[in-house]
Amino acid sequence: MNLFTRVASAALLVGMAPGVLSAQMVGATSVPPAPAFDAQGEPVFVNRADVFEYRALDSYSEPDFVSAFVAAGKLPPVAERLPAEPLVYSTANMPDGAGVYGDTMRHVIGGRPEGWNYIAGNSQGWGGIDIGMYECLTRTGPLFMINSEDLAPMPNLAKGWEWSEDGMQLVVNLIEGAKWSDGDPFDADDLVFYWDHHVMDPEITPLNGASQDTFGPGTTMAKTGEFQVTFTFTTPRPEAVLYSMAYGTFCPGPSHIMAPLHPANSENSYEDYRNAFPPDYMNFPVMGAWVPVEYRSDDIVVLRRNPYYWKVDDTGQQLPYLNEMHYRLSTWADRDVQAVAGTGDFSNLEQAENYVESLRRAADADSPARLAFGPRTIGYSMYMNYSANGWGEPDERRQAIRELNRNADFRMGVTQAVDRVRMGESLVKGPFTAQYPGGIYAGTSFYDEGSTVFYPYSLESAAAHFAAAGLADTDGDGFLNHPADVLGGANVQITLLANTDYSTDGNLAEGVVAMMEEAGIQVVLNMLSGNDLDATRDSGRYDWMVRRNSSEYITVLQRPTDLAPVGPQTAWMHMANDAGEIDLMDFEAEMVDTVNAFIATNDPEERAELMKTYQRLHTENVYSVGLTAYPGALIINKRFSNIPPGAPIFMYNWAEDNIIRERVFVAADAQADHELHPGTLPGAPGSVGPMMAN
Ligand code: GLA
Ligand code: CA
Repeated sequence: MNLFTRVASAALLVGMAPGVLSAQMVGATSVPPAPAFDAQGEPVFVNRADVFEYRALDSYSEPDFVSAFVAAGKLPPVAERLPAEPLVYSTANMPDGAGVYGDTMRHVIGGRPEGWNYIAGNSQGWGGIDIGMYECLTRTGPLFMINSEDLAPMPNLAKGWEWSEDGMQLVVNLIEGAKWSDGDPFDADDLVFYWDHHVMDPEITPLNGASQDTFGPGTTMAKTGEFQVTFTFTTPRPEAVLYSMAYGTFCPGPSHIMAPLHPANSENSYEDYRNAFPPDYMNFPVMGAWVPVEYRSDDIVVLRRNPYYWKVDDTGQQLPYLNEMHYRLSTWADRDVQAVAGTGDFSNLEQAENYVESLRRAADADSPARLAFGPRTIGYSMYMNYSANGWGEPDERRQAIRELNRNADFRMGVTQAVDRVRMGESLVKGPFTAQYPGGIYAGTSFYDEGSTVFYPYSLESAAAHFAAAGLADTDGDGFLNHPADVLGGANVQITLLANTDYSTDGNLAEGVVAMMEEAGIQVVLNMLSGNDLDATRDSGRYDWMVRRNSSEYITVLQRPTDLAPVGPQTAWMHMANDAGEIDLMDFEAEMVDTVNAFIATNDPEERAELMKTYQRLHTENVYSVGLTAYPGALIINKRFSNIPPGAPIFMYNWAEDNIIRERVFVAADAQADHELHPGTLPGAPGSVGPMMAN
């Protein structure tokens, strides 16, 4: 398509006068080239089966201090704690081979744990706590290093699956004989409790937005064996569900302690249930490698090794190698500072404001930390609330804004008022930031440049679009007003929701406010901390929102249901009203059809075509206002071994999953004395503190 026809079709699609661009309007162009920035370190590509398999070994071992618990009769022998066929990591696939036990990974995080009821919506404070505590049916973080011919989710709690001949059913076989960290058996009942009383319960909003729609409309799941569940679908072979069974959307909780407190089985309200396992509830049973044993508010969360962890290396050593995990409760910016200084061990360098200083310090040969940049997968967009049929009961002002948000000229005006070069440079100078039109990221596998539409910065064009949307500064105060019949012709006033926990979010939001002011649109910031922001967003109390994007725009495969409102509760920029109705705009309905077709097909060429269509619809119609995209860097203390080369800080999942922490170790001569509870193991659920040493 040449430039002219692309501009003309853009005009047609957004319903402007056929084929005519008004004189002042500047039409769409292709995306300006991004500065070259090479990722440092290539992954070593392998097949999934090269990484691990499930099998019995002749014998197993554990740290000496754990054997002492066994000798004292406080813990069954390791072979009895493990499943008959544990998940066995191949040491040949480990970057530095078999590890040794000991030491701690000291994380620093900016979030705060609300409690351990992850499956009922409690945040753990992010930064890898939840990733390390909750294991999911499948796993996707390490897929960055999987050969494309073998690309599919890795088994995890689900050790295998089989499609029925007609593709309408999927039989999932769970690992058999694995135990929760308190020794209780893990089985299909845990999955049934998660599915029936969380996924299918409309009163519960799990984190990361899992709902029935995540698994396809009409999908059911039932127990078909002690260690087996069967999904039944309404379309044949929806392989995308295997990605939805990974981190975030299918990580069951311990039904043996949770079910009795669920409103279905008790007098508890949903609020009571959600708060039933507060952060000071210790030894919450997990399937993950580390169990919470200490919590000090605004200070630290400490996790100790799970003596029942069901993964081993092929020499028989029970994993994890690291005895402890720390999460210092601080700020995200402090995570970068501490990681480069060596007082913390790990950071996803993702706030561009910190790049220059972090790079300078890491370049020093004596720096305690390694820093490696990956692909440009950190990106921000501004989203508009499109629900005009009642979601969140908007007042008159909010309703007027939502109707404006649904106006194509208004959205084009907004996107053309954003100077993305200036915005990127306000974060960091240098070759990092790219002008990002929104939608699928450049450089990722489903991206197609020819299907991506970019509306260049032009205040004249923005003004013309705003005029076409019916806005004019009727009172001469420099801000555009609604037409006389809307809110009495008052100034347009928009609230912009953004996260205070990250300086980048705040800086971008302030940039939007300033640029909109230059274009005559009055925007007021609503800056909230993560947990409050989520609650505000989920109840629909926002007009616009600046957001760091998730993996839907990188891998597509990981979260395709986030791409468009395919269900009443899947896309928070457009949620259904109380009656379950979504008032889709026409192009949005096309996006929904495209995403549903993508989910329903497994044909690679068809998928690629469908994502081209999606990207065109998204960018041509300014479904979101892309702001900036840039690369992130993994900062990790040099004493750690088995960090996979080329591990991106974000792709299918965050680096806390990608680096496979249960295989990470510290060589004996590099071990530091960071354990806060050496010689101890987690005790009984709810009990204060860890089990004492022998
Ligand atoms: C936060 C951080 C990310 C990553 C994730 C993990 O969002 O900003 O870098 O650590 O938590 O969930
Ligand atoms: Ca005005």
